[in-house]
Amino acid sequence: MRDILATIVYSIWYILPSYIANMSPVIFGGGKPIDFNKKFIDGRRILGDHKTIRGFISGVILGTIAGIAQGRALQGILLSLGAMVGDAIGSFIKRRLGIEEGGSVPLLDQECFLVFSILFAYPIESVDLYSIIFLLFLTPLLHKGTNVIAYYLKLKEVSY
Ligand code: CTP
Ligand code: MG
Repeated sequence: MRDILATIVYSIWYILPSYIANMSPVIFGGGKPIDFNKKFIDGRRILGDHKTIRGFISGVILGTIAGIAQGRALQGILLSLGAMVGDAIGSFIKRRLGIEEGGSVPLLDQECFLVFSILFAYPIESVDLYSIIFLLFLTPLLHKGTNVIAYYLKLKEVSY
């Protein structure tokens, strides 16, 4: 029981900069898209209008600040950079599947940033399998919760 609790607490502490990075663009995003409105060879946008430079940078900065506050600056940088790269890769895949900006793809929307976060930070802080499984389970639930809150605060147009 104590082990389970320790895993839960450690996992949330471990991933916190990534979660903060992922939430920041909803508040601070907007402006120029990362793909500069460019299209891919399939004629669709590379990433789309919803992946903005400001959103990306705000995510990395706030996630890094969170990491510094935790006394884990390097993890903060890598987790938040991984989150923003993974989030953009998720959008890249969605555009290739022909899904419009903001359209929902279960799991891809919620787990892609998480997986890349963990991959980026892994060389600095390897995380155990139980923590990864717990985070894969927790993240979609949190994602749903924060999106509903952001929707009611009128920060987002859709509740997913
Ligand atoms: N956002 C941003 N810049 C980023 C990432 C996100 O400005 N690099 C902002 C956008 O306003 C976006 C919102 O955060 O609408 C929510 O992000 P997300 O759910 O990841 O994007 P979607 O709207 O679902 O777009 P996509 O279909 O491309 O995933
Ligand atoms: Mg979305």
